[in-house]
Amino acid sequence: MKKILLFFSIGITAVLAAQNSLAIPPALSGTTFNLTVQNGTTQFFPNVNTPTYGINGPLLAPTLIFNKWDTVTLNVTNTLTGSGNSTTMHWHGLHVPAMDDGGPHQLILQNSTWSPSFRILNNAGTFWYHPHGEGKTDLHVSKGLAGMIIIRDSAENALVLPRTYGVDDFPIIVQTKSFDILNQIAISTAYDTLPMVNGIVDPYLDAPAQVVRLRLLNGSSDRSFMFGFSNNMNFELIGTDGGLLDTSTTLNRLRLSNGERSEILVDLSALLNDTVFLVNYGSELPHGVMGADSVGDALNQIPDYYLNPLNGADYNLLEIRVGSPTVNPVTTIPQTLVPHSPWLVSSATVNRQFVLDTLSEVFVTPNMAEGPFGINRHFFDMDSINEIVYLNTTEIWTLHNKTMVAHPFHIHDVEFYIVDIAGNPPPPSQRGLKDVVLVPPGDSVRFITRFEDFADDSVPYMYHCHLLHHEDDGMMGSFLVIDTTLNAIAENQHLAGKMECFPNPVSGELNLLLPENKTGVGILRVYNLLGELVLERTSSSTHEVIGTTNWPAGIYTVQALYPDVMLHAKVIVR
Ligand code: C2O
Ligand code: CU
Ligand code: CU
Repeated sequence: MKKILLFFSIGITAVLAAQNSLAIPPALSGTTFNLTVQNGTTQFFPNVNTPTYGINGPLLAPTLIFNKWDTVTLNVTNTLTGSGNSTTMHWHGLHVPAMDDGGPHQLILQNSTWSPSFRILNNAGTFWYHPHGEGKTDLHVSKGLAGMIIIRDSAENALVLPRTYGVDDFPIIVQTKSFDILNQIAISTAYDTLPMVNGIVDPYLDAPAQVVRLRLLNGSSDRSFMFGFSNNMNFELIGTDGGLLDTSTTLNRLRLSNGERSEILVDLSALLNDTVFLVNYGSELPHGVMGADSVGDALNQIPDYYLNPLNGADYNLLEIRVGSPTVNPVTTIPQTLVPHSPWLVSSATVNRQFVLDTLSEVFVTPNMAEGPFGINRHFFDMDSINEIVYLNTTEIWTLHNKTMVAHPFHIHDVEFYIVDIAGNPPPPSQRGLKDVVLVPPGDSVRFITRFEDFADDSVPYMYHCHLLHHEDDGMMGSFLVIDTTLNAIAENQHLAGKMECFPNPVSGELNLLLPENKTGVGILRVYNLLGELVLERTSSSTHEVIGTTNWPAGIYTVQALYPDVMLHAKVIVR
């Protein structure tokens, strides 16, 4: 059944009398950016103040404009109130050192400032920034902490494209939010009934009658969107997560899952003094994608999913009121954009498998639609490392979705090219450099990437599901990028298995389970956080027991070196 909620404010919780002008977040450029994370209030409903969070304002954040190759410094100050309200700030899609990445390990305590500084290495494109605190991402993003990043470079600049921010080039941050009966922002409900763009409910945008550029970001916690226009006009896709494509592609619909971005060109020149809506054609989302008519089956349900009128519905997101063109309008759409040379599948030397699943050993009757879900039978653990990646390696990651819901899988540090989705080459909207890919229920996705920079043998990067409550519930893992030349291990000698450390945290005997398929005698070494060797011994068994009772509490790195494999793990000693 197709629900049509077009041409009317959804107004589940409130019907708004008038439309609201779309807010365009202020743009900041330069090389030093001062970002204050703060409390505020926002009126999503007439005359109701809802407490929100924002950066340099009550809701959302300034758009950061970076130039490729610049070195930027971001001073992020946490002024949030509420006890224990630390946060982090992650530059989603940016290729930066692990310690500057703003994952859960780079805490910004209250009333303190974190100042990462890094060089902009990504190509021109649309990225974003948002908090990433352990178990807090959904709350902090839903309360309003999210902003857009625009990177500019010479290749993009050489093309005839709309690029005047807020004039013919618009940030379009699409979100839905849940509210409780007191109109407070709620999370982990199925009632994200209020759509908004740039934090504005029922918005309209005055746009010129010419070719305009929309930078679409799905900043929602859970919902995918199927974008299109109310008059069914075509539009041109020019960029995906990591920037411009090699050629533009004419589309009529574009699906974006959580965290994904796309840049589209829309020709409004024939619509002077007319109006057209950006629509979510939710009825066209396939079964199993959050926001579709149905997810799961009779036994595996998301509680209250069917009570949310947005699910499976078509509805307006943004009214575009077309007015006079600008003085020098862009009137053409370039076909050829920037060259791409994806890594060849045959060049990959490591294949990693990631199983997205419930932990059936933990949950006797797992709910395959609702979760909680893990990756490779693990929930996220701040103090352990799930994968070790060696520098200068091209890898294929295969994501196996064993559940009944689609998961938008995101990796930090690198961008990738999708090799295939359920065995088929990616559709045009999934080409180009990506950092999120939606893995359909019951299917697999492969992507290829290469790790070339930023080795750090103690600070990990994350990979995770970008459904924010899945991420917060533990559907996340960590990886270290290690420079093998520093560790005197040849580049082609790869990880052949895993070392399991338990219990972790430990206060007495630490058990190490070492892989069966290693060869020869290995050396076990344990280092403290200062890098001092606290234990060294040889090992030729697959089970080692280490006494830790005399060790000061803290985080330790366990290393097992064999002639053919090197393993790392972190353990906490209490
Ligand atoms: Cu957009 Cu790990 O995040
Ligand atoms: Cu990210
Ligand atoms: Cu998920």
